[in-house]
Amino acid sequence: FLSLRSSSSTSSGLPDPAITSALQFSVVVPTLNEADNIDPLLTRLSALDLPAGSFEVIFVDDGSSDGTPEKVRAWEGHHSRLRVRLLERREKPDLTRSILAGVALARGDVIVVMDADLSHPPERLPALVAPVLNRSHDVAVGSRYVPGGSTVGWPLHRQWLSRIGGWLARPLCDVNDATSGFFSFRRELSSAIAERARGYKILLELLMAGQGKLRVVEVPICFHDRTRGTSKLSFFHQWTYLQRLMTLAGGTVSVGTASRFAAVGLIGVAVDALLFQWLMSSGAGLALAHIMSFFAAAAMNYSLNSKWSFRRHHEGYLRWDQFGRFLTVGVFALLMRGGVLALLVYGLHVPSFLAIFPAIAATAAINYFGSAFYVFPDKRNP
Ligand code: GDD
Repeated sequence: FLSLRSSSSTSSGLPDPAITSALQFSVVVPTLNEADNIDPLLTRLSALDLPAGSFEVIFVDDGSSDGTPEKVRAWEGHHSRLRVRLLERREKPDLTRSILAGVALARGDVIVVMDADLSHPPERLPALVAPVLNRSHDVAVGSRYVPGGSTVGWPLHRQWLSRIGGWLARPLCDVNDATSGFFSFRRELSSAIAERARGYKILLELLMAGQGKLRVVEVPICFHDRTRGTSKLSFFHQWTYLQRLMTLAGGTVSVGTASRFAAVGLIGVAVDALLFQWLMSSGAGLALAHIMSFFAAAAMNYSLNSKWSFRRHHEGYLRWDQFGRFLTVGVFALLMRGGVLALLVYGLHVPSFLAIFPAIAATAAINYFGSAFYVFPDKRNP
């Protein structure tokens, strides 16, 4: 699974005389092709005003091809103040699994997680670890979004992604910077993290595993975008973050559910339009045709969604309260569709044949998320 090299000793095998103080905490640094950042990071960490040997730095590397492990090894056993260890994983690269592997090896009771790319200022480490070391808090989050915190040099789209990621998580964990990768915590808390947790969201998993009982403090940090190497954050990581948020919030969002929901929606549109045309041609008034076709399509959509799209968390029989919720979401979506259409056509003078597309998209989003969270919430254990 992995190979571990560790050193708090000199190359002669004897304890380094400069490392005298007891180990207080462990810093876990995940790495994937960060060769150019290792020396600057360890230089800044070794310059901190902390007792020599009071912390260890565990690098968890996921098969870097740029010489990152060699750079770390050069520090092992050759520094008088730092205890440096290297863990080389041989599995599929994954940030969360790497951090958990590093935590499993840590000798400190308090863990700090930080990126290797110097985006997290090493000089904030003492402030970040203090609240957990002195036991006043269980978790301390290095936060960009509290007074005193900031981001420097980050492209606008990254700032927005980070903000949106934080806002979406806010109702779940009441933290301003839930996507921060710089945080400290008591080691035993990690055992509650879900076995299936993957990707860039380990702090959120940690906070959610604490079920609202954790004492959390946010410590302001100034996040500096990396100057060496590249980010490994992909669209896939962002999508899995979103999916996990939805699951933790009690709804299920997956490609499979969304596709089934879209297929049902298309059938519903066809039923709606055909019935509407038939009623109109049979002499029913506009209002009657509109209401009848809406209810017919809604009833069909509901039964298909409950038995098929969201079948995994539905008891399989018609429930009137649930159908009522389904209609509520449907009516709300219709109102939204009308509002978007009116705004685009009358307010912004967009031609109606174009305006209908964003209107349909808004309606579909409301219908889908309303169904996932309100009509058919997933009651299984996330
Ligand atoms: N072991 C391992 N395996 N390390 C990884 C992997 C992986 O699959 N992917 C990324 N890393 C390491 C990087 O080498 C770096 O040290 C750290 O994790 C952050 O990765 P980046 O890809 O540089 O992240 P970013 O700069 O875009 O920042 C985003 O993610 C961070 C996660 O810690 C932001 O959301 C930050 O707020 C967040 O701190």
